[in-house]
Amino acid sequence: MTETILGRPIDRVDGRLKTTGQAKYASDHRPIRSTLHGVLLKSTIANGQISAFETSQAASMPGFVRFISHLDGALIRDIASRGDAPFFPGELLTPFLSADIHFVGQHIGIVLAKSREVAEAAAATIVVHYEQRPAQLSLHGSNVTWERPILYNTGEELQITRGDTKAELRNAVYTVDQHYGTPAEHHNPIETSSTVAEWDGDSLVLYDATQGNTNSARYVAYAMGVGESNVRVVNQFVGGGFGCKGFAWPHTLIAAAAARAAGCPVSLSLSRSDMYTSCGHRPNTEQHIVLGANAEGQLLATRHTTRSYRSPVGDHVEPCGLTTAMLYASKSMDVVHEVAELNLPSGTPMRGPGEASGTFALESAMDELAETVGIDPIELRRRNHTEIDPRNGRLWSSKNLLRCYDEGAAAFRWSERQTAPASRVEGNEYVGFGMATACYPGYRMPARARLKLDRSGQVLVEAGVQDIGTGAYTIIAQMVAEGLGVAIERVTVRLGDTALPEGPLAGGSMTTASIASAVDAAIQALRDELEQVGVNTAGANPPLFDLFMSANQESLSVESGSETMFGFAGGQETDLSFYSFGAIFVEARVDKDFGIVTLPRMLGVFDAGRVLNSKTAESQMFGGMTFGIGMALLEETEFGPDGRVLNPSLGEYYVPVNADVQQLDVRFIDEPDYAFNPLGARGIGELGCVGAAAAIANAVYNACGVRVRELPIRLDKLMEGMKQ
Ligand code: MOS
Repeated sequence: MTETILGRPIDRVDGRLKTTGQAKYASDHRPIRSTLHGVLLKSTIANGQISAFETSQAASMPGFVRFISHLDGALIRDIASRGDAPFFPGELLTPFLSADIHFVGQHIGIVLAKSREVAEAAAATIVVHYEQRPAQLSLHGSNVTWERPILYNTGEELQITRGDTKAELRNAVYTVDQHYGTPAEHHNPIETSSTVAEWDGDSLVLYDATQGNTNSARYVAYAMGVGESNVRVVNQFVGGGFGCKGFAWPHTLIAAAAARAAGCPVSLSLSRSDMYTSCGHRPNTEQHIVLGANAEGQLLATRHTTRSYRSPVGDHVEPCGLTTAMLYASKSMDVVHEVAELNLPSGTPMRGPGEASGTFALESAMDELAETVGIDPIELRRRNHTEIDPRNGRLWSSKNLLRCYDEGAAAFRWSERQTAPASRVEGNEYVGFGMATACYPGYRMPARARLKLDRSGQVLVEAGVQDIGTGAYTIIAQMVAEGLGVAIERVTVRLGDTALPEGPLAGGSMTTASIASAVDAAIQALRDELEQVGVNTAGANPPLFDLFMSANQESLSVESGSETMFGFAGGQETDLSFYSFGAIFVEARVDKDFGIVTLPRMLGVFDAGRVLNSKTAESQMFGGMTFGIGMALLEETEFGPDGRVLNPSLGEYYVPVNADVQQLDVRFIDEPDYAFNPLGARGIGELGCVGAAAAIANAVYNACGVRVRELPIRLDKLMEGMKQ
């Protein structure tokens, strides 16, 4: 028997391709026919209409080919008419359909030129005349209309009432009633969204930087008025996404339409500043939390109201209260989500949508409640632990949150925490500890995979799913190597292509969980196929791969998959709830004079089912926790009074760099969850950033006694607080 391959810290099988520059990302593709380069023209007003373009100077530039806008007629079919066509647009905006403008940065034209440089220079000369209308840009004021949307995009109810919070709050011995805020944030993957579109008659190949190639293909097929099978989307390598490449966005349609109109391939790569208005962001939130507890600190009432905005063409709601509804036992519950329409770019899920932003408020409030009750923050969480999902009374498929608290507290030396804030000073710094609970839903979607074995001893695995940098290539190679009993070096994995067996989008941390079942089904299909050709596969030995080699077949190819769906409306009926959990511990140091925060230590203990590769899993959690550092201390998108993003660059939008991240430690409980899928692995991508911002805020409070309820925790807020 081969040794176990799953679980081991195997290096990325695509690591060499990436580090030697051989991995091709979307804009690395250069079709043989002369490719034109596109640069987007963006609106500079927040509400109104285009009345005219002045393009004569652009048109005179050598290398300029064409300017395309709504004046070219209907090049793109209106996606608002899509009915129940099975695709998810990031926003209900069909580019170039009309002269209407809804927000600053809306795409109003594309310049095509023989080089990107000429396209940029030409676009910069185009003058746009507008008829402006008053824009709604603030959530405050008498003319704001609040909506209460019914469902989140997963099908979860957004307005939740259990029991009578009003009555329970009257019974409460301790209460916390506070407002918290999170700013607008942008995903900032290193690869900007890019599309290369090449038509051949009515068939289109798109090299598209997307987290969901099938969704992208369906979206483009619909809008271009061709059949789904006419559009092939290739995304073999994607340089991160964090949600902004999850749904399909107008720039992809523009690339496809421009290539068709121009009669040659078009390469459209968004600039960094385009990324701030073209493909979503996490909208800012205003959250109100009321907690009421009995004398023991057990929650009698929980209220969580979230106010946020949507764009005139978007419906994303930052679902902050959904986590609150499931995380602790609370005798009564009121979760409210309200949105108002603003003339701002559309929001979209961003890593831990709702979970990350909502737990900042909830887990800060729990820290405040612990202090009010006079007990340790971990003890408060233990007293409110729930062995059933409070939303529906179901058992969790697997939950080891109490072990996360215990192992984390021991490893972090939590017992050294000073209860009273601002009571530990070292040199010129306050030192404090904080913690918070992490959690993330277990999602699973239908997926398929194909296996090809040949007598030379090679195994090829093909699946449509994409690896957005999380390690899917490696995990899938491991699954197959282990399942067939073959060395991983003999396994080649092909992903990221709608011509391959279909799989879900790389969102909701569900690729591994979904593809595990597809690989399992394909291995079962191989077993059946071997039986067909007279091989007895019963019993554990020898491995399937050796049985194939002994079967005197040139090659064998099987394809199978799983239709199971968990965590979404319309999914499987089950009497279990699937969630991953964890606990995050932070040591914060705050400079007494300048309020500068450093984080010498951060520890996460996570319960995400079985760990399939300890190296890539750990890296995912490092990434998530680092995302949490950004959220807590640095990230904020600023909109000006005219609706313009004021800091649309990595120079002015701060993300954590190495100097901001010191010691990160990650541990896993590593208990398989076989009720969830055949390998027992739940998703791990987003889990690491949930709770991280609150753990940092709680540590900062414990250090210096300043409670910052509006992220990010910047030194001006701390200096202000420490003066008092
Ligand atoms: Mo994630 S926000 O589901 O890409």
